[in-house]
Amino acid sequence: MTLSFEILEKDIAGRIGKLSGQGKTVKTPTLLPVINPHLNLITPAEMQKMGVEAVITNAYIFSRSEEFRERALTDGLAKTLDFDGVIMTDSGSFQLSVYGEVEITNAQTLAFQQAIKSDIIVPLDIPTHPDTPREQVEQELAITMDRIMEAKGLADHEHHTLAAPVQGGLNLDLREQTGRKLSEEGFKFCPIGAVVPLMEAYRYAELVQVVMAAKRGLSPSVCVHLFGAGHPSMFALAVAMGCDLFDSAAYALYAKDGRYMTTHGSYHLNEMTYLPCPCPVCEGHTAKELNESPDRERLLAMHNLRVTLAEINRVRQAIRDGVLWELVDERCRSHPALLRGYRTLLGYNEELTAKDRETKRRFFYRGDESCKRTEVVRYQQMVGRLSAGDTALISFSRHIKKKQTEGFDSVFFFKPPFGPFPAELTETFPIGQSEIPDFDEAMVRTGCMGIAKLMEGNPDTRFTIRCRPVWMDLIRQILPTVEVEDERS
Ligand code: GUN
Ligand code: ZN
Repeated sequence: MTLSFEILEKDIAGRIGKLSGQGKTVKTPTLLPVINPHLNLITPAEMQKMGVEAVITNAYIFSRSEEFRERALTDGLAKTLDFDGVIMTDSGSFQLSVYGEVEITNAQTLAFQQAIKSDIIVPLDIPTHPDTPREQVEQELAITMDRIMEAKGLADHEHHTLAAPVQGGLNLDLREQTGRKLSEEGFKFCPIGAVVPLMEAYRYAELVQVVMAAKRGLSPSVCVHLFGAGHPSMFALAVAMGCDLFDSAAYALYAKDGRYMTTHGSYHLNEMTYLPCPCPVCEGHTAKELNESPDRERLLAMHNLRVTLAEINRVRQAIRDGVLWELVDERCRSHPALLRGYRTLLGYNEELTAKDRETKRRFFYRGDESCKRTEVVRYQQMVGRLSAGDTALISFSRHIKKKQTEGFDSVFFFKPPFGPFPAELTETFPIGQSEIPDFDEAMVRTGCMGIAKLMEGNPDTRFTIRCRPVWMDLIRQILPTVEVEDERS
């Protein structure tokens, strides 16, 4: 296997990485536009100028094409497509998922993908539909695993990388087991398969469960491709889970239907009066002109692809800055199904905390969901280790006089949703870099859990909380043993 994957920066379980080999490099996360040689709305060479470093095409289409089969075999894919970046080929499994059968064997597609000099080849995995009964999922998974192992044993893999897809339907234990097994077998490039039906039906909560299960089994050093994911509204969410590569025909399929992509959903050009995008296509046309242009499909594909690539860059920047949660939050509010996916992801917060980085540029509180963020979990794991002495004051107000702290061994301030903090931590992350609006119930509730952790770590300390009367009942309800005083008395 020739491509190597290096992780450079992280945020949540997302990463910026470098996939390299054979003199080519691909920055991840990245999008591989799907190239259909028969369509070619935007040429791979044009894509390269737009910043595309890798594309994916369907080997099955090449193998059945009178026009392209021989050329690809003679000249190789790079020359046939006129693209010198990384070229991945899919096996025909997608046709398998749509038509139920393909006229090619695993050995044949692998030999063909090698013969046309693909950089990343894919065996003929079975993309088991999510609503398949377990017994059938197990049978198909066994076949997929046999084919992956057959592929591993078949040829020397010096000139390409062999992708090992993770299948297993909606059975999370099977997804996890499969991920673990493939990692143990040494695979370094693993797509997560058969998720297209989930995305098409907006089943983002289940998508999150499936991806998190597969990721739990996969080694963190594996480069993970989310098969068939190409709408920019979900990149932040998928990257937060640790997906590195996406592939998309969406930019072209949507264009065919006259649909205009944005990072928060798509619109039909018929329903648009204004174009909210500064790309050359949108700058040069009104919505009406674009809709009525004889070149509509190509122009719209151009716009769609640019929007998609721009979002990939936005996600990369968010990882660098450690603000990926903010971007996930923003994107997932554009549709309730995405919000459900986001909330499902937050349910994995303890597991994500272990992967997340220690410090970030900032933490912006954006409502209830922010209370479940990894930074809060991490802070509350730490706060129990602070020492509070025999008596401790927790002051909700930051403006207290020395005299008011007399008689206490230790003094803490309160920054919800994190919890209590000593003055020494005022400038450190997350206390110093978090911005919150006026206290609300959700954050105070979560902050009180932080107080509970401090109390657990200091079981012999007598704690007094001073706050405004409005919070007293809530605090007494969550922390019944603590003494609560009105900060103005
Ligand atoms: N394209 C979309 N989903 C899949 C999948 O599960 N397997 C393969 N090989 N290609 C896909
Ligand atoms: Zn545009």
